[in-house]
Amino acid sequence: MRPGRPSYTAEGAAAIRALETLAPAHFRVFEDRYALALLSTARRIRMLPGIRHLIVRMVERKLPGVIAFTAARARWIDERLLAAAPAVDQIVFLGAGYDTTFARHPELAERLAYFEVDHPDTQISKMERIARRRHVFGETFDRVRPVAVDFQREDLETRLLEEGYRPDARTCFVWSGVAMYLDREAVERTLRVIGKAAPGSHLLFDALVKREFERSEYARARAIFQKWGEAIRFTIDPEDVKEFLGRFGLEVVDLTEGPALREMYFAKEDPRRIQPGGIVVHGRRG
Ligand SMILES: C[S@@+](CC[C@H](N)C(=O)[O-])C[C@H]1O[C@@H](n2cnc3c(N)ncnc32)[C@H](O)[C@@H]1O
Repeated sequence: MRPGRPSYTAEGAAAIRALETLAPAHFRVFEDRYALALLSTARRIRMLPGIRHLIVRMVERKLPGVIAFTAARARWIDERLLAAAPAVDQIVFLGAGYDTTFARHPELAERLAYFEVDHPDTQISKMERIARRRHVFGETFDRVRPVAVDFQREDLETRLLEEGYRPDARTCFVWSGVAMYLDREAVERTLRVIGKAAPGSHLLFDALVKREFERSEYARARAIFQKWGEAIRFTIDPEDVKEFLGRFGLEVVDLTEGPALREMYFAKEDPRRIQPGGIVVHGRRG
């Protein structure tokens, strides 16, 4: 991440959720009526009719299929989080960005200990935007426990414990759009913390497929992320996920690849491509 600046990709992911919300109902795969309210003024302008289709074309040219993947990922994770929630005591968003689950499902933070962990620069920006748009968010963010951590440099477990996280309580961790920006060591450190959570805990995350991202077609995408100050560092092949998570005491409940997400959620006549190099994973502490 660029020093002193909030995550650029976090705003991009929120913009995609806003775009999807504005899509015609028969094509829409995810609805997030709070996403728009968390965008910067410049990004909100880009969502105006007449402008947003140009933005979609530009993004599709630079990062083909990323819009469809990001929208489908949000739906997939949301469905599994809601299914897991009745049997957990805590929810921990790791690298929460401008996620709005706290507002879309306020009952979660009312009933459960609800943590949002993020890099301090992104977290401050989110809190400022929520404070400015209190007329939209009301008091829904008041129950969220923010935890500022730089995964690359700080100890996640220590920071979580300081903020009241209980390792003996069943937890659902959501790690959406984050692992790819961390180096392998930081990914492993994070999984070690998740692997120590109470049996019955869940992990919902996504990753980029190594063999896809190493192909020359992705050179441009890799350069774009680098330019944004959020270079792609961690990738993994789907067949290696089971062994990798297993090292941290986590079993794979479900692993879905981009094209399967398209089959699951998109209307047959929807012409959108989906990025083939993305996977979503549901892991569980056995
Ligand atoms: C693509 S955004 C994803 C945000 C959100 N989870 C979503 O799906 O919309 C990446 C997130 O990872 C966070 N992040 C990246 N590097 C980080 C680091 N070293 N420490 C803490 N957070 C980091 C950013 O602040 C940002 O919120």
